[in-house]
Amino acid sequence: MLMNTNEKTVKNIAVFVSGGGTNLQALIDAQERGEIRNGRIVFVLASNEKAFAIQRAEKAGIEHQVVSRKAYSTSGDYDAAILAALENRNIDLIVLAGFLSILGPSVVEKYRNRIINIHPSLIPLFCGDGFYGKKVHTAVLASGMKVTGATAHFVNEITDGGAIILQKAVPIEQGDNEDILQYRVMRQAEWEILPKAVSLFCEGRIRIEGNHTVILGE
Ligand code: GRF
Repeated sequence: MLMNTNEKTVKNIAVFVSGGGTNLQALIDAQERGEIRNGRIVFVLASNEKAFAIQRAEKAGIEHQVVSRKAYSTSGDYDAAILAALENRNIDLIVLAGFLSILGPSVVEKYRNRIINIHPSLIPLFCGDGFYGKKVHTAVLASGMKVTGATAHFVNEITDGGAIILQKAVPIEQGDNEDILQYRVMRQAEWEILPKAVSLFCEGRIRIEGNHTVILGE
């Protein structure tokens, strides 16, 4: 059988979740609209057995597994369990979508420059240890800034420290509280840029130069 030599192998995507899974849902919906080019979500890993994201994977017919963070006493043991869950799945890209555990060096090393995270601020502002979920928006509101946003970035050993792939800014409105702001950042920024960043990766259109990225074919 003649293979189409131009055909790039479709990249296998694993999505890591911990909570509501709205970013996972955005990825699933984008995939169904054909917007994740040359990529396919093949596995969902949940760090918390109560994560609603698991129901979203179930509904979409995507294989999933709970690797519960609290079942492992050290981060090293947890990393080993994550690597075991990914074994033999030929995963090309890991996407952290509301994943609340920190990946240790053994996972970061094995999947270097093949892990993408979505963070709910404009990195390098309001990021790093302790800045996750609503805590980010509390700090943003306390700062008096008039804009915030979200960042899709590669993951390295530094929390929220990897090369930035895409960012999108959203306005802060009078009377915003953490809940209103979190939802606006998710709806107007996270759910848009994460699928785009994943598609760019699967199309081979992101070149990493030091701590910067160049998007090819723009
Ligand atoms: C949200 O705060 C999002 O900004 C961050 O994780 C939290 C939950 O996301 N990435 P999800 O609904 O579980 O995707």
